[in-house]
Amino acid sequence: MDARPIGLFDSGLGGLTAARALEELLPGENLIYFGDSANAPYGVRSLPDLERLARANAAFLLRYDVKAILVACGTVSSTVLPSVRPACPVPMFDVVRPACARAAEAGFRRIAVAATEATIRSGAFDRQLRMECPGLQVFSKACQSLVVTVEQGHFRPGDKAAEAAVAAELEPVRAFGPQAVLLACTHFPLLQDQISAFLGDGVELISVGMEAARALRDYLQQNDLLAPRSRGEHRWFTSGSARDFGVLAEVFLGHSVRAEHARALSAGDCDG
Ligand code: DGL
Repeated sequence: MDARPIGLFDSGLGGLTAARALEELLPGENLIYFGDSANAPYGVRSLPDLERLARANAAFLLRYDVKAILVACGTVSSTVLPSVRPACPVPMFDVVRPACARAAEAGFRRIAVAATEATIRSGAFDRQLRMECPGLQVFSKACQSLVVTVEQGHFRPGDKAAEAAVAAELEPVRAFGPQAVLLACTHFPLLQDQISAFLGDGVELISVGMEAARALRDYLQQNDLLAPRSRGEHRWFTSGSARDFGVLAEVFLGHSVRAEHARALSAGDCDG
């Protein structure tokens, strides 16, 4: 048993896709969420910048004595995490491996990866997928503009701006004709309805945040690290406007959210 909270971070709203999955899978856990909206989007940043931000975000979460950190960001997970992880005193979970393992288990032969510019440039999902399933046909597409679409609050059902943005970014993916699309940026499952409507029901959408949340649950269960309570408390921090973040988080999470402002972070260390 371990009563300490689980920490999560992302550049903004995207990591809520992992947080919502944790709320469902592990209702007894305390969660500390940090959305670095003041520094979003991450997908266009340099690697040194991403490393600095990832260290600072981890240091922020460690102040709350977290027992594990879910890096609920495809961009950080696929680029600088290997450099940040060794200095971190608690396990850091990425969103790359669990989603690729899930795709391999399902036995898909044609898969598309939709992610940020930095994630696609890293080739991390592509490499992991090919390692897990040799012979798999992979098509990768950077869809950076969808991050801003989500951060601006365009993800509700029927939102015309969201539909137009999805169509503009995903047309090459539809032309590829995948059996599944790995939504390798955690922001993208907020557009699940629009993406499904555009690609058709026959195309499976894999949320990397959801798969990472399952992997974290399995780890806590197997290592007897679950919290000894039935209902956890959740704190939601953003480096942007707490009001804006709270309003949009409530829409996605489906419950009230008291968002708190946290100062935008500068370089920090993973030792808290
Ligand atoms: N949600 C993050 C990801 O999964 C970051 C997106 C961004 O800020 O560009 O990549």
